[in-house]
Amino acid sequence: MEFVANNLAAHRSAANGEVLVDVLRRDLGLNGTTVACREGDCGACTVLLGSPRENITGSPLRYRPITSCISPHANARGCHVVTIEGLSAHGSNPLQELLCHYSGTQCGFCTPGFVVSLTGFLLNSPSLSFADASAAIDGNICRCTGYKAIERAIQQLIATYAPRLLAAPSRIAALVSEGFLPDYFLQVPHKLPSYQAAAHRSPAHPSPLIGGGSDLFVQRPGELRPQELKLLHPGKETRQIAVEPSQVIIPASSSIHDFCEHPQLKKLLPCLDKVKKLFASTQIRQQATIAGNIINASPIGDIANFLLALDTTLLLRSTAGDRLVAQKELYLGYKTLSLRPEELLFELRFALPTPRTRVSFEKVSRRTHLDIASVTSTMVLTLEGATIVAAAISAGGVAPFPLRLSHLESWLVGRAASPQTAREAANRVTEEIKPISDVRGSAAYKTLLLSQMILAHFLSCCPETISEESLLV
Ligand SMILES: Cc1cc2nc3c(=O)[nH]c(=O)nc-3n(C[C@H](O)[C@H](O)[C@H](O)COP(=O)(O)OP(=O)(O)OC[C@H]3O[C@@H](n4cnc5c(N)ncnc54)[C@H](O)[C@@H]3O)c2cc1C
Ligand code: FES
Ligand code: FES
Repeated sequence: MEFVANNLAAHRSAANGEVLVDVLRRDLGLNGTTVACREGDCGACTVLLGSPRENITGSPLRYRPITSCISPHANARGCHVVTIEGLSAHGSNPLQELLCHYSGTQCGFCTPGFVVSLTGFLLNSPSLSFADASAAIDGNICRCTGYKAIERAIQQLIATYAPRLLAAPSRIAALVSEGFLPDYFLQVPHKLPSYQAAAHRSPAHPSPLIGGGSDLFVQRPGELRPQELKLLHPGKETRQIAVEPSQVIIPASSSIHDFCEHPQLKKLLPCLDKVKKLFASTQIRQQATIAGNIINASPIGDIANFLLALDTTLLLRSTAGDRLVAQKELYLGYKTLSLRPEELLFELRFALPTPRTRVSFEKVSRRTHLDIASVTSTMVLTLEGATIVAAAISAGGVAPFPLRLSHLESWLVGRAASPQTAREAANRVTEEIKPISDVRGSAAYKTLLLSQMILAHFLSCCPETISEESLLV
């Protein structure tokens, strides 16, 4: 058995690069999951992947919503895959009834995705608030109903059920007794097969390594589907992000969600909330990995740029052993890395930010949400009083790879955290960037954006000494 699909054992029937939605629909006859964009953008194909890791609400499995159109089905190995068919034993469940009652569905094409995402919310949200529910459907697009009707259904869902669900000792048992989940859910943890993730890249295995697949299955879907891929099983990562006294250690196949939602990291790096809100959708954050963002080496990778400014070190692993490389030494040119063919990125480390460290993240895209950046940038300043004693600034979208503005960093050290320094720094960025004009903006626009971002970074890092008015002088 490969995985459990709703209440059925699913056996291997396709090359492991075949995407999950095709295996569900074609091989298992679970046609309720719909497919529209096949690029992770619309959420129609959302399914839940439950893997053995305790959920924040006490369930023995953690259920992650993912887009099954860009996820290799083998990433579901050892997991419980939940599709729309698996959410009701007889007729519609209360969530489906509410969506119908409030006219939250018209043609119905997007509805399975909304129901599955909202079920993920019911399983995962510690607060069961309206804000959490709205965030849970940030990756689901409806072309015809209009979101107000869906919002009204959610408001009623919360008003009726949240108090009882929050008071229950076991969320999953309460969801079963309220009829949101069939009772087979309680038995699934005992039925799952176990699988191990790949530990290193073998020279005899030439196919690409796959993390969440959210880059590769958009870039090269036709080529990958018939292949036997080397899988890293991001959802089955058993190591946890560790915040040690002097450093943070991140397993490379941690998801973007796990990174942005880590309780201690959120306190140490308050701007992680902004990173999360501007990075893709709930589904993509749950399936995409940190390693994928770094190794994909896109100049506009948000996490790659964020970690670059934190002076991150990478632990690369192969059969020949481990080696440590500074992330800023990894990028040699456009999508060219100092990574040996047999190496995988195993772990990342950065120094624990101190109380004197200020971190600011900025991203501007053509559309604020659900879009990749025109320019993305992070500034890390260490202050002693009002003097800058260390500076690190990354800039994405202005060079062939994620760039550190090293000349500007050196220039800043020893200067006052003042409006004058900020204005001069914003002018100096032009000296070490080489943006190109493309669909995300002209070179001149990107240059202007980055220089405005430098001002925004200073406002965010130095509110004691720099105000908006002071920058206008
Ligand atoms: C709808 C959508 C929205 C997106 N929005 C954003 C966004 O807002 N910001 C952004 O930065 N990105 C965005 N992305 C891009 C993508 O989600 C990220 O780059 C993500 O972090 C890739 O991770 P992955 O695990 O899915 O990568 P994969 O596709 O699995 O792999 C990407 C590359 O990394 C390699 N790789 C993966 N893991 C390892 C490892 N451990 N060691 C060595 N090599 C490895 C693979 O071989 C491949 O070359 C978006 C993608 C989609 C589909
Ligand atoms: S079909 Fe649009 S996200 Fe999968
Ligand atoms: S109900 Fe038609 S797309 Fe949403």
